[in-house]
Amino acid sequence: MSHVFSRAGGDLPVVARARGVQITDTDGRSYLDASGGAIVVNIGHGVAEVADAIAAQARQAAYVHPTAFASAEVSAYADELAEVLPIADPRVYPVSGGSEAVDTAMKLARAYHLARGEDRHVVIARQGSYHGNSRGALDVSGRAALRAPYLPWLGSARHTTTPYEYRCPFPDSHPVGCGARHAAELDRLIRTAGPVAAFIAEPVSGAALGACVPPEDYWPAVSAVCRAHGVLLIADEVMTGFGRTGRWFGGDHWGVRPDILVAAKGAASGYWPLGLVACTAEVHDAVVGAGGFVHGHTYSHHVVGAAAGRAVLRILHRDGLVTAAAERGAEFGDGLRSALAEHPSVGDIRGLGLLWAVELVADRATAAPYPRQERVVERVVAEARSAGLLLYPSTGCADGVDGDCFLLGPPLSATTAELAEIVTRCATAVRRAL
Ligand SMILES: Cc1ncc(COP(=O)(O)O)c(C=O)c1O
Repeated sequence: MSHVFSRAGGDLPVVARARGVQITDTDGRSYLDASGGAIVVNIGHGVAEVADAIAAQARQAAYVHPTAFASAEVSAYADELAEVLPIADPRVYPVSGGSEAVDTAMKLARAYHLARGEDRHVVIARQGSYHGNSRGALDVSGRAALRAPYLPWLGSARHTTTPYEYRCPFPDSHPVGCGARHAAELDRLIRTAGPVAAFIAEPVSGAALGACVPPEDYWPAVSAVCRAHGVLLIADEVMTGFGRTGRWFGGDHWGVRPDILVAAKGAASGYWPLGLVACTAEVHDAVVGAGGFVHGHTYSHHVVGAAAGRAVLRILHRDGLVTAAAERGAEFGDGLRSALAEHPSVGDIRGLGLLWAVELVADRATAAPYPRQERVVERVVAEARSAGLLLYPSTGCADGVDGDCFLLGPPLSATTAELAEIVTRCATAVRRAL
């Protein structure tokens, strides 16, 4: 018996190699990776240039403690990031992944207010959101099923409404004016929740609700509410960052200028466990000026992580992958719609750039979800896998328990032909399973 504490029950295929959009197992079976794992592999699998950059840095200096040495690699990475981040003159704090970045960002927000003499500690997030599985990140996450076993440890975060257009919480004003209603809800909660330090949200909801794109007026209105109350805006760009939605960062579609931004996944495209927190000079200077940020991780500011991040940035620039995501993403969405929109179990097809989701429903007229025990999305994903297609399932979008959807987030380097093949296999899997 294996000594691995596996994340999945049952037998899994054993990976042999991965190149571009394809993963091959040790039995020689190939899979089209339509979700880049968990929407991670933005530049595609097996890019030797990134492996070489990692190896070269590891040979030169694999690890130094970030309080003992500065690193030219980390400095260069932060400077290169500064050119694409939606924050003027940012300061970048690299970490090891998304949850760690979210926890770091929340502590930084509190440190900023403390530095200015304000004892603010409440963080507001959104219902149905996902921000990670560490205790702090789970507390701001709004996914009931993930929170349930750990509830005695949670409860300091508050949750407001989410722009989920297919199940809009404001049907009487939908679709025009929902953004203002969400902003009014946030305003009300900020006034009543106690001393609010920060509001954290994904520009486009990723895994938990399935690629929900907010209405046009959402981000301007919500950003204005945060500013009016001196509440820091934390943009969780873990899934939407680094070109995934067809802009460098998801918030760029609406000109969102966060005080703090967190990223991971696409930052190193899976080649290295890299996350990062970026903040404004104002946040940085306030915290450092008041004695420094009481925080740190053994693997923060990792020199090899910086080398991996730099190589990935270079490839995103050189191969025009952000523009590719915008252009091919629009075609991909059209393809999904023409292949699946008429299927009786498909309630909604939504997305932006190369981040898409298909929501499956028991009744299209009422948008009633399937009962969870029918394990509908699991059936579709299994059918797809047996036809050599990897999809990323998500459950609970409708009410925290019921609600099936699957995500598609192929590498931004996928060719038009590969994307068309993904659409074909995906439609076949839905038809066969349902
Ligand atoms: C939006 C968002 N934030 C945070 C996280 C947590 O990232 P990680 O799994 O790297 O801890 C995720 C992971 O899926 C995510 O999608």
